[in-house]
Amino acid sequence: MTDSSSDTKDIHRADRHFLHPWEDVTAIGETPRTVLTDSEDIYVTDSDGKRMIDGPGGMWCVNVGHGREEIIEACAAQMRRLSYFSPWSMASDVAANLARRLAALAPGDLNNVFFTTGGSTAVDSALRFAFFYNNCLGRPEKKHIISRVNAYHGSTYLTASCSGKMREKAEMDMIEDHIHFLSCPKPKDRPAGQSLEAFRDEKVAELEAMILSVGPEKVAAFIAEPVMASGGVIVQPEGYLAACAEVCARHDVLFIADEVVTSFGRLGHYFASESVFGVQPDMLTTAKGLTSGYQPLGALFISDRLIAEITAATNEGKGFTSGFTYSGHPVACAAAMANLDIFERDGLLEHVRRIAPYFERALRSLSDIPVISDIRVMGLMAGIECELDPANPDEDRDMAFAARVDAACQRHGLLLRPVYNACVMSPPLIITETQIDDMVRILRRGFEEALAA
Ligand SMILES: Cc1ncc(COP(=O)(O)O)c(C=O)c1O
Repeated sequence: MTDSSSDTKDIHRADRHFLHPWEDVTAIGETPRTVLTDSEDIYVTDSDGKRMIDGPGGMWCVNVGHGREEIIEACAAQMRRLSYFSPWSMASDVAANLARRLAALAPGDLNNVFFTTGGSTAVDSALRFAFFYNNCLGRPEKKHIISRVNAYHGSTYLTASCSGKMREKAEMDMIEDHIHFLSCPKPKDRPAGQSLEAFRDEKVAELEAMILSVGPEKVAAFIAEPVMASGGVIVQPEGYLAACAEVCARHDVLFIADEVVTSFGRLGHYFASESVFGVQPDMLTTAKGLTSGYQPLGALFISDRLIAEITAATNEGKGFTSGFTYSGHPVACAAAMANLDIFERDGLLEHVRRIAPYFERALRSLSDIPVISDIRVMGLMAGIECELDPANPDEDRDMAFAARVDAACQRHGLLLRPVYNACVMSPPLIITETQIDDMVRILRRGFEEALAA
């Protein structure tokens, strides 16, 4: 019989050599992480055998749940048949068929699918395509990008520079001269007495003022997550996104929807931009739920309109010289195809639309816990913000509290993801009402224990 605690210790010793994302390099390996060894349905199991609900769905990605044999089989079969092809010079049936299938699902004329290795590379490619497009149209000055405080768009140089989680940027170099930030459209932070509509209009006006102050002839794109995920699940006021898209269209600024989190069912639709928010983006990025995290894959959708404009402006022979060894990787594409089959066969989008109100009601039942200052829910994503003393705000103290809630919840069988002072959740979309009840019961207990600590 193996001794799980000595196994865990050995994994921690080995993990000392794994430089994790966002690691404090002065303390590598000093805070031992929970070691996950198994997963099934909406659950993960740690190296001590503790089973927990996967509250964050991996990292907003395990949409169809863990252990889906269909995806595993599809990947294995694809590896046996064709394990790799060069996307530069060759084509493959699985990547071509996935591109066609995705183009049919994407809104409007987003018919051109550029495969990437994940979300960051999808957003990076979108921004680089915006620059390429303007070069092709003879507008080399039109290169500025507008983003928002609290946005997260990735971890390449360009996408990190467009991310607005300012706390995380202090020690890292950023591109600064062409990237501008609007204030965060977080309704909770609006001045007392201001209506949601007035707040929305103010934020939209801020976008237009920014475009005008930089100069519409210089602004290439506005990039926005339909719901700001890693910023703490910030649900923007109704009508905000559509109004922003209208401002962009009026000033010939590309609207890029970063749907790395909000696509593939998180909000009850394959893509949320049009179906939920009534917006037709010029470009759209996705990843995560595209394969439910079984394989790394991202995609950028580019509209026919942009391609047609480049073509009409006599750019023959000019390539969008961007791409990756693993663009359209056949095994990742096979995982995505099997993932989509599950969505269709199990009616997963309908399930999310049906269960989302229950999820919201269940989470709102926690509103009597005094330290909870905001509960934000949309589809199957949620952020619960904690403030120990709203009159004397202290972000570090509140972050430490959210981490304590996470630790207590883990003890009782629920993984959370603390983001600053918010606990965020995006469980696998297959979650049932009973499992939501379990989740919320553990959350309440986690809050109670963290408060008592
Ligand atoms: C909205 C958004 N865009 C982009 C990314 C980056 O994706 P990846 O980590 O796959 O590179 C993320 C990751 O969380 C995200 O939430």
